[in-house]
Amino acid sequence: MEQVLRIVFIASECVPFAKTGGLADVVGALPRVLRDRGHEVIVIIPKYAEIQWGSYVPERLLHSMGVWMGNGQEWCAVDGTHVDGTPIYFIEFDRFFQRPGLYHDSRFNDYSDNALRFGLFTRAALQLIIDLRFQADIVHVHDWQTALAPAYLKIWHWNHDILGRCASVLTIHNIAYQGVYPADCYEYLGLQWSNFSSNRFEDHGRVNFLKGGIQFSDMITTVSPKYARETRSPEFAHGMAPYLNDRGDAYVGILNGVDYSTWNPEIDPLIPAVYSSDSMNGKRVCKEVLQRRMGLEEAPDVPLFGVVSRFAEQKGLHLLGEALPLMLEKMQMQCIVLGSGDPRLERVFADMPARFPGRCGVYIGYHDELAHWIEAGCDGFIMPSIYEPCGLNQIYSLRYGTLPVVRATGGLDDTVEQYDESSGRGTGFKFTAPLASAVFDTVGWAVSTYYDRPHHFQSMQRAAMSRRFSWDDSVTHYLEIYREARRRKP
Ligand code: ADP
Ligand code: GLC
Repeated sequence: MEQVLRIVFIASECVPFAKTGGLADVVGALPRVLRDRGHEVIVIIPKYAEIQWGSYVPERLLHSMGVWMGNGQEWCAVDGTHVDGTPIYFIEFDRFFQRPGLYHDSRFNDYSDNALRFGLFTRAALQLIIDLRFQADIVHVHDWQTALAPAYLKIWHWNHDILGRCASVLTIHNIAYQGVYPADCYEYLGLQWSNFSSNRFEDHGRVNFLKGGIQFSDMITTVSPKYARETRSPEFAHGMAPYLNDRGDAYVGILNGVDYSTWNPEIDPLIPAVYSSDSMNGKRVCKEVLQRRMGLEEAPDVPLFGVVSRFAEQKGLHLLGEALPLMLEKMQMQCIVLGSGDPRLERVFADMPARFPGRCGVYIGYHDELAHWIEAGCDGFIMPSIYEPCGLNQIYSLRYGTLPVVRATGGLDDTVEQYDESSGRGTGFKFTAPLASAVFDTVGWAVSTYYDRPHHFQSMQRAAMSRRFSWDDSVTHYLEIYREARRRKP
């Protein structure tokens, strides 16, 4: 019997409580699978004003917990609840978290005190571990928001009876966001000026949270093997390549799993009709109902493509925005876009339904049910990302038999197998050039396959639906990483 590990997740997002992207899905899913393997896991997140409590009722656990910041103490409170048996703790500190949004205000301006907010949260999370007397083996942190924890462990808690034995693992979900702030927050963060050097936290005179995390954590992971290779080169690493390369084999890629109890067309309660690869009738119903809902022509034999995405530069949707009008002019196809973010892109897509009535449907916003409908009702799914650490929607698409059209980068390349026209094998259509013309050509390739080689399209759908990217496999890798982190801990 393997040794039971005691693991603490410290993160800025976790479903179902607070989500802006896939990070929340990962932090929601991984602890449950670790618990199923017999390990003890707790999760700590900030108590934002916008926590989605749903049917969960938080309980006040600590009324005032002192946390050392700068030269004095801040006083936090702690609430707790359980999700499927996993304890989730919420750090309450109203000055920082009683405001709209997780990271920015309603006009997408990042909060100017984010360094202080997430520094305080991270330090409070470590204090909570001490106050709970939770003898943790591993602290697992995610992205820049919590990347200071490995440093705090080594600078402040190396000799502590609870935290002194605790190893750290940092997972990078997106290296473009590093948490870089003017140095005037450094005193408050309490990281010691001796660590304000170019091989620790200092970055062109500013403080870089992620850089410090890379230096101080015992092991570092990212969310796909290909992104791990990409981020070792300057093109993808946003300045972090030398530091990651310095860490050698302490940096590895582990592909995210997906939650097949939520994303499975055989049991999905959100979609109009369920289906499986043996009986695809339900998928035809889903397409018809989706076309009607989005005001499209109810054309069962016209290929329908979907997009569900944050509108951020990373996602390459400017390429699609450029290519889509030409695609709709030249090809017998339809397209549905769901997403929000960059106001310029919102405008580009919001105009499309009027320009192509009955052929293009757009919903600007966040809509979970519609995301499920799109996965189920479309024939193809477009993800032209400039970079993609892992990506979840293409994996959902595979399970729903909705063939992904993707740029061969990061996790997209690791999870989608290129269509081979001679054999009919593959699970999707990939391109490499980050150009609108490449999006146009590759969607065109999918459209021609749909019309001219329907037996290939259908066998690819069956192949895609049979692929599994389960958390079970990923967890086996994470457990190896946890053990390795413990071995490497000084
Ligand atoms: P990222 O985390 O970079 O945004 P991922 O593909 O890892 O990309 O995860 C995105 C997650 O957010 C998926 O669960 C996806 O379904 C969801 N999502 C993104 N935008 C929307 C939206 N507008 N409506 C509903 N779900 C969305
Ligand atoms: C980030 C990445 C995305 C990844 C997600 C979960 O948001 O952009 O590719 O799937 O984190 O790890």
